[in-house]
Amino acid sequence: MADLAFLGNNIKAPFSSIRQLFDHLRAKPDVADALNATYTYHGLFKTAASKNGLSDQKFIIEISPTRLGLRLAELDLFLYSHGFTEVLEFFTELTSKNLHHLLSMLGATIGADLFPLHRSSNINFRLYDYTPDTAAPQSEIGCGVHRDYGTFSIVFQDETLGLEIESASHPGEWLPVPADSAVMLCGWSAFIVSGGELRAVRHRVRRQPGVRRLSAVLFVAPDLNVALKPIISGKSNVQFSPDVLEGKVNVGRLKEFRDKKWCWREGNAKPEDGEDVSQDADIERLILG
Ligand SMILES: [Fe+2]
Repeated sequence: MADLAFLGNNIKAPFSSIRQLFDHLRAKPDVADALNATYTYHGLFKTAASKNGLSDQKFIIEISPTRLGLRLAELDLFLYSHGFTEVLEFFTELTSKNLHHLLSMLGATIGADLFPLHRSSNINFRLYDYTPDTAAPQSEIGCGVHRDYGTFSIVFQDETLGLEIESASHPGEWLPVPADSAVMLCGWSAFIVSGGELRAVRHRVRRQPGVRRLSAVLFVAPDLNVALKPIISGKSNVQFSPDVLEGKVNVGRLKEFRDKKWCWREGNAKPEDGEDVSQDADIERLILG
């Protein structure tokens, strides 16, 4: 299935460096504060799970190429000797060797050229530490059920089980991704531009109490100003909302929806009374008729 591909273990993420980076930031709060000061909107090292037992129980390091470009000099002071060099090299090589091929493959599947939608490298890298050392050590919720907002994501795992994908043929049934395999899965943007031909794959991460799990993810999305609508006329098998069909939902707007819910889910912001914290339901209301 083109919207979900198991990539095996030929490409290895540098998990010893990733572990070193998380351990360093947790051991050195002053360094973590300095890192977060380079991006004050929501910080780059997210630790809400250390205090909030209801949020996703994970720590996150955000590595956006755009943000890095702005503050590279400051990061140079304290992170490169603690695993950051290897992490950056990994993501840079991964992107240069695979991005073109994967966009070609997905485009061929739906009979369309996806490159005009991806001119400005709207890509992000994230590292995750599903450590047992959080506010709710026994919680199984590493990452709640969701779909990603972009075109596709590639998830690398440290050979520890935890990532699960909803069965396409049996909704509600969760299938573990083999612990030694990377996986590519499509998101909402792919779903919309393909007229529903590519699924936005629902997934989640379950924790095993007492077990630490690390992952690294590359997120690829269309450019923020791209209006999301089916790009092959007459082929859509989905009833989209008038806003989508009239080109009023661009990638930036979809990302804003997703960011707000992520902040709640990840414990970095609180929903107002009565607000629905289900990320998927909100996005479905926006894009489906
Ligand atoms: Fe995800």
